[in-house]
Amino acid sequence: MAFYSIFCCVKGSDGKNQTKKQSTWRVFSLKELHSATNNFNYDNKLGEGGFGSVYWGQLWDGSQIAVKRLKVWSNKAEMEFAVEVEVLARVRHKNLLSLRGYCAEGQERLIVYDYMPNLSLLSHLHGQHSAECRLDWNRRMKIAIGSAEGIAYLHHHATPHIIHRDVKASNVLLDSDFQARVADFGFAKFIPDGATHVTTRVKGTLGYLAPEYAMLGKASESCDVYSFGILLLELASGKKPIEKLSATTKRMITDWALHLACEKKFSELADPKLKGEYVEEELKRVVFVAIICAQNRPEKRPTMLEVVELLKGDSEEKFIAIENDEIFKNTRPADYKDGLSAGEDSSDFISDEKEVKQEVEIVKEPNEEIEKVEV
Ligand SMILES: Nc1ncnc2c1ncn2[C@@H]1O[C@H](COP(=O)(O)OP(=O)(O)OP(=O)(O)O)[C@@H](O)[C@H]1O
Ligand SMILES: [Mg+2]
Repeated sequence: MAFYSIFCCVKGSDGKNQTKKQSTWRVFSLKELHSATNNFNYDNKLGEGGFGSVYWGQLWDGSQIAVKRLKVWSNKAEMEFAVEVEVLARVRHKNLLSLRGYCAEGQERLIVYDYMPNLSLLSHLHGQHSAECRLDWNRRMKIAIGSAEGIAYLHHHATPHIIHRDVKASNVLLDSDFQARVADFGFAKFIPDGATHVTTRVKGTLGYLAPEYAMLGKASESCDVYSFGILLLELASGKKPIEKLSATTKRMITDWALHLACEKKFSELADPKLKGEYVEEELKRVVFVAIICAQNRPEKRPTMLEVVELLKGDSEEKFIAIENDEIFKNTRPADYKDGLSAGEDSSDFISDEKEVKQEVEIVKEPNEEIEKVEV
């Protein structure tokens, strides 16, 4: 398998042979991971994603790890493992979750990461930590800028460039200092030099998928930009990407936010958990940038480098241009009438019956097992 050859080149950082110059990851034995996770005890389980379960563990030196134990009975998982390991082994950035090692013994395929004590952004926005309200506005801004920097690094500085393909709140982990670490490169594929996009089978999570990607399978950096826009809206508002309003009606976060942004009702856009404590200029910036990122026309979306600049407030001219964009002139702009987010009549709501019928290869509801669904 591809990853063996990669590891052969850089192996040797294990135990006594370790030297400072060598890679910081190593190969773990299954025995060591069994003992670190108390035999993959249910109590150690941090959660479950599309490709397996994640367990908390502690190594003999006291350091805490997160071990992703892949379901290996499908060839697909086998391939994802190779891809993820290859990508992670190469990429290092302060806002990307680094690989600590891996284990491939018998049927077992495991990836070892640093444990992130503040878990995922998802757990703070909608999960087990949401009641604690630990995400004040400063932290949210830091997470927005940090995760943008991590993705910008993948798009513009990693060699070859990398599309993440599954940017979402559960894949933004938070370290002890609430610094964002973008995780899970299992979906990432290398973009060949000179290619503008790679047509491939759709992988991602419902609610974050760019419409051209969901419908035509065209993966490009701008698909990540779209997903990042959804993530920004989620971060600012505390709302989920798709809200279920009734048994048959769902609302996309973009439709809801655009409507309020056009009417300049920023206080209604802010997460009520912030209790009005936010910097209005920054909130406005986040919302405008998010909507520009999550528009249906990929050619109009900014690059992640521009997103970083805009979020930091380093590009006043570009921000003024965004504020004056057509999209914010009407409450029902054309850009949000077509695509995945709305039915024919462009209401703020979409009903199940009106959703575009287009088969997507693999789509996951946030935090749910992979399933084949129609959107
Ligand atoms: N290094 C880590 N430290 C702390 N928690 C982690 C770590 N890695 C993953 N988790 C948490 O474990 C849970 C499962 O993660 P996993 O990546 O398997 O699923 P997911 O992110 O929900 O979906 P996907 O399979 O699409 O990535 C998530 O809640 C995630 O935030
Ligand atoms: Mg994940």
